[in-house]
Amino acid sequence: MAILVTGGAGYIGSHAARTLRREGYEVIIFDNLSTGFRRLAEGFELVEGDIGDEAALKPALARVDAVMHFAAAAYVGESVENPRKYFHNNGLAALQLLNATLDAGIRRFIFSSTCAVYGVPDKVPITEKTPREPVNPYGASKLFFENALEAYSRAYKLSSVRLRYFNASGADESGEIGELHNPETHLVPLALEATTAKGRELQIFGDDYPTADGTCIRDYIHVSDLAEAHVRALQYLEKLPDEKRGDSLALNLGSGRGYSVMEVMQAAEKAIGQPVRRKMGPRRQGDPPALVADPAKAKSILGWTAKRSLDEIVSSAWQWMQKSSSSK
Ligand code: UFG
Repeated sequence: MAILVTGGAGYIGSHAARTLRREGYEVIIFDNLSTGFRRLAEGFELVEGDIGDEAALKPALARVDAVMHFAAAAYVGESVENPRKYFHNNGLAALQLLNATLDAGIRRFIFSSTCAVYGVPDKVPITEKTPREPVNPYGASKLFFENALEAYSRAYKLSSVRLRYFNASGADESGEIGELHNPETHLVPLALEATTAKGRELQIFGDDYPTADGTCIRDYIHVSDLAEAHVRALQYLEKLPDEKRGDSLALNLGSGRGYSVMEVMQAAEKAIGQPVRRKMGPRRQGDPPALVADPAKAKSILGWTAKRSLDEIVSSAWQWMQKSSSSK
């Protein structure tokens, strides 16, 4: 079975591509390399193209049985400054991909969604029934595509799974690939960088939240656990009985356990044996105090749970950072 992995030269997509290959799937990566990196797609067939470009998509789609769609713009802050980019990439261009998928006769689609579709939830843990009320254009653009996918699934018998990630972090155990963002804005790599002499100091975005230590709580999920959930979701679609064709399933992917910014820093200090150099800053606009998944649905439907701990997240991210900085 062959899978088109859009955004397969990006952080999460490159991990999914490797996990798919380890499980015996044939993988074609489709990426315009606007934020992806050629080195993350090394060893795979890479078709360079934009998801909004039907002519580039068509020959690639003709060779696959399913699509996993990761290609997206994914900075919350940038989405507030430049919503046009977000609705274009994550809405319009993604819709062109979805139309081309349908036209190619493909009826299995897996979508990278996000906990940002929930906005600021009334309570945690967050189940899939929590109202979807995004508070930034990034979340709104992802919700737009979720809605399109649901409608298309029903109308055109396109079976789909919408995977709502919590905080993806960590790196593949091989050390070959890992988190690579330009600019880097995520807590785990920034906390690790702040343990080094040359790295920037970490700014903590607020310690006056209504949490035990005052810093924000997030559900950090190892990217390899995320990648495995994608394979399970694909296997679920492969086995779907005829009467369920056209279903669109939404699943939270998180560990179910929240950690504060302070706790993540402590985990980094424990792994490296050096202090995280830090300074206290103001709150970052749009940061909810606590986001933690209820992952029960993914467990009951896919038999999936997060296997890797925060310590494994931090140590694998550190291993990758050292390897990638020495190969620059
Ligand atoms: N943080 C800091 N300092 C930093 C960076 C982050 O204190 O320099 C804090 C944030 O305030 C937050 C936590 O660390 O409390 C995690 O922040 P990240 O930027 O690593 O991740 P986010 O929770 O903001 O973002 C993640 C995904 C997004 C997704 C969002 C949904 O990366 O794609 O969750 O809320 F949209």
